[in-house]
Amino acid sequence: QAADNIRNFSIIAHIDHGKSTLADRILERCGAIDPRNARPQLLDSMELERERGITIKAQAVRCDYRARDGRTYHLHLIDTPGHVDFSYEVSRSLAACEGALLVVDAAQGIEAQTIANTYLAIDAGLELIPVVNKIDLPGAEPDRVAQELADLLGDDPDQVLRVSAKTGEGVDELLEALVARIPPPAGDRGAPARALVFDSQYDQYRGVVAYVRMVEGELSRGEQILAMQTGTEAEITEIGFMRPHTEPAERLVAGEVGYVITGIKDVQRMRVGDTLTSRARPAGEPLPGYREVKPMVFCGLFPVESDRFEDLRDALDKLALNDAALQYEPETSEALGFGFRCGFLGLLHMDIVRERLEREYDLELLATTPNVAYEVELTDGTVMTVRSPAEMPDRARIAEIREPYVRATIVCPRDHVGAVMELCQERRGVHVDMHFLSPERVQLRYDLPLAEIVLDFFDQLKSRTRGYASLDYELLEPRPGDLVKLDVLLSGDRVDALSMIVHRDKAYPSGRLICERLRERIPRQQFEVAIQAAIGSKIIARETVKPLRKDVTAKCYGGDVTRKRKLLERQKRGKKRMKQVGRVELPQEAFLAVLELS
Ligand code: GTP
Repeated sequence: QAADNIRNFSIIAHIDHGKSTLADRILERCGAIDPRNARPQLLDSMELERERGITIKAQAVRCDYRARDGRTYHLHLIDTPGHVDFSYEVSRSLAACEGALLVVDAAQGIEAQTIANTYLAIDAGLELIPVVNKIDLPGAEPDRVAQELADLLGDDPDQVLRVSAKTGEGVDELLEALVARIPPPAGDRGAPARALVFDSQYDQYRGVVAYVRMVEGELSRGEQILAMQTGTEAEITEIGFMRPHTEPAERLVAGEVGYVITGIKDVQRMRVGDTLTSRARPAGEPLPGYREVKPMVFCGLFPVESDRFEDLRDALDKLALNDAALQYEPETSEALGFGFRCGFLGLLHMDIVRERLEREYDLELLATTPNVAYEVELTDGTVMTVRSPAEMPDRARIAEIREPYVRATIVCPRDHVGAVMELCQERRGVHVDMHFLSPERVQLRYDLPLAEIVLDFFDQLKSRTRGYASLDYELLEPRPGDLVKLDVLLSGDRVDALSMIVHRDKAYPSGRLICERLRERIPRQQFEVAIQAAIGSKIIARETVKPLRKDVTAKCYGGDVTRKRKLLERQKRGKKRMKQVGRVELPQEAFLAVLELS
């Protein structure tokens, strides 16, 4: 059978354990990239990804490996993102494979995402090949890490491969193991066509490029196709493989992974998770798709210059073409004017979107404090979703507020267990269980309100364990919480964009802290500014920003002109991010003050 020489696989790993480097080494070994002019980490194609060193979009590359048995194998490598925000993209990529390399850093050992991704791969029925990477490092402990991996998979430590993606050591053995252990794809080539769209990308010139795994049958250039879930009909104008650049072919057959271009311009009509089939001989049933991705974190984005609202809309429309997880709808704030309430997968996703909007679309934005979505049951029985504190109905109308919860998996050295438990308890965590991965390393599980972890939990976890703990989480059902809306008033005016929803037990300390933080961040104005925190009509905290007295440049003695100019320039730059709220000028930092409440 033709598919015998095909192997479809992913590389899954905790962030920074060397997935992209190993991918590069494999592509290089198979001649898909030339080591002399290869840019490091070829698979991370987005500029921002490269800068931040993270993988966001899953991509697929075909390369050819001539094995020791003399046969040439087509390897399809499907890249997976490594950050917890993007774990839904991991399961998507895994659905297109038969196997995965499970890569763990020899100096670090198993981390939370290693475990989470392993379960995703096992659920997807994949053959897993455990790999210890970075054996060249002076601090490497390949034996210990191999044992951890063997325990995790219920495997023999002898089955664990050892490589250095940096030096290339062990990569040949890895490729041999890959060909030997990962089964070839099974799909029937003669059946009606079914291709799973596991990723898609919008290209300015070619429209939507859909990355597909042919599960059964075949699709050819020029063929009329149907996207079974959306009902979209189109003609294949180009089909082929990523090597890693698009290389057109006549057809894709069962088992192969490649791309399809139809000239369709709207990613919504060629959606990830859909099944492509042939119109002439359609399949009976679509393939099982994917769960819809649900944004977990929301914030308001407002242009600093109000007349750029339409530009912001255009920019969001364009970004969303390549980012199915990004949601947005217009929002009007009394304080900030016209903007959008945006939904993100997590804080990293939010940062990336915001940075791209500013960098690629030359916008200056004010972002409000991020919050989660609440399920609010009213006294009349209706249930509404509240995505912004401003939308929270009056207390008298509320029967119950339910907040999203996650089950967090945390891995850390045993010495840090106390610190981790303390942090989880402070964040209203409910202990689920704990067990030892090895004599030195512990896995803890807690159920936590998502709101308690989206802001700074990860940073806190890192700093309290000196960087040794790792985190992953999955969403649970929302649970009732005793929550209240905390408002902030500036000079007596309620600033809707600064409102937040907090647990009742934390309302008083949070109110005091937010007032203090705002006092530090709101520049002095011509008049006194009163900062107050309130629950309903009850004021619970107050601070004052004293009025401006001196000319800020006075202390430069008038003599040092460059210093004076620099100071003025800095002030001017600072000003750009200011927004006039009532009578008060509010800087962007004010909205971040709430991030530092703990
Ligand atoms: P994400 O894309 O963010 O998920 O990270 P990644 O898992 O792809 O890790 P990446 O390949 O970017 O590697 C992380 C760091 O480890 C980089 O600085 C690499 O140069 C380094 N690295 C990767 N493999 C090896 C290795 O075998 N030995 C050594 N010494 N360093 C390595």
